[in-house]
Amino acid sequence: MQIVPSPNVIGAKIQGVDLAQPLSDAQFQQVEAAFNKHAIICFPKQRLSEPQMISFARRFGDVEKIFLKHYAHPHYPEIMYVSNIKENGNDIGHADAGRVWHTDMSYTARPPRATMLYALEIPIDNGKVLGDTLFSSAADAHDALPFETQMRIANLRAIHQVAGRRARTGTGQQDQALRKEQPAVVHPVVRTHPHTGRKCLYVSKGECEGIEGMPKDEALALIDELADHIIDPRFHHTHRWQLHDLLMWDNCTVQHLASLDYQWPQHRRLMHRITVDGTVPV
Ligand code: SIN
Repeated sequence: MQIVPSPNVIGAKIQGVDLAQPLSDAQFQQVEAAFNKHAIICFPKQRLSEPQMISFARRFGDVEKIFLKHYAHPHYPEIMYVSNIKENGNDIGHADAGRVWHTDMSYTARPPRATMLYALEIPIDNGKVLGDTLFSSAADAHDALPFETQMRIANLRAIHQVAGRRARTGTGQQDQALRKEQPAVVHPVVRTHPHTGRKCLYVSKGECEGIEGMPKDEALALIDELADHIIDPRFHHTHRWQLHDLLMWDNCTVQHLASLDYQWPQHRRLMHRITVDGTVPV
């Protein structure tokens, strides 16, 4: 197994592993250590059936049930389709997942430890691959803050809700049903990573609608300031997809954004997505 770190503060490629075969405990320990260290790992050229992808994901923890049930795989409810493909006029999967910078499902009480995407179709236009996924390190962002700011935010707790900001601006009618199912939750503004012990900023403009005990305007201004800092290009890593990449990321250490630069019907993108339970409370 070769672990090839990216030149960025996050990201690595792992070569010489066939995820269709069960990994030995020693191999898995190497993979898990690389995941904790680099926060985003890519296994190129994998040929994975649905059960094989689910088995690999289970090595990291329980696999979660899909929240957006209408995009779940019909035979494997652990797998969600992320796709722009339409059948009979309907999206077969989540077509605009990752439209804004976020960390997956921070609006749940136990947000997922990891998200995996497996590329089954990727959009290509005149030889150029479209649909990159961008990442930014919330751990390096925390470390780069002035000490006084680190102290000021150390014990704050933010309120997260499904598309909370869209709710605030009154444009999120489509999210109302989800919000009923999933009431607001509170998480520390600075999470201590359960596996690495690193401090990670844990706010986003899309989901955070306040800070406990702080006037709303002040809270939103602070959330915006921190959220903008997290996505400073110093902390970035871009994943350019290749067919059959299995990519996974750590939802405590990084935030991500999808480049929605491809269009149906001239481009087709299809990913299988699995989230692994955050077994350790935030
Ligand atoms: C996501 O945000 O979960 C999807 C990212 C992508 O499709 O690139």
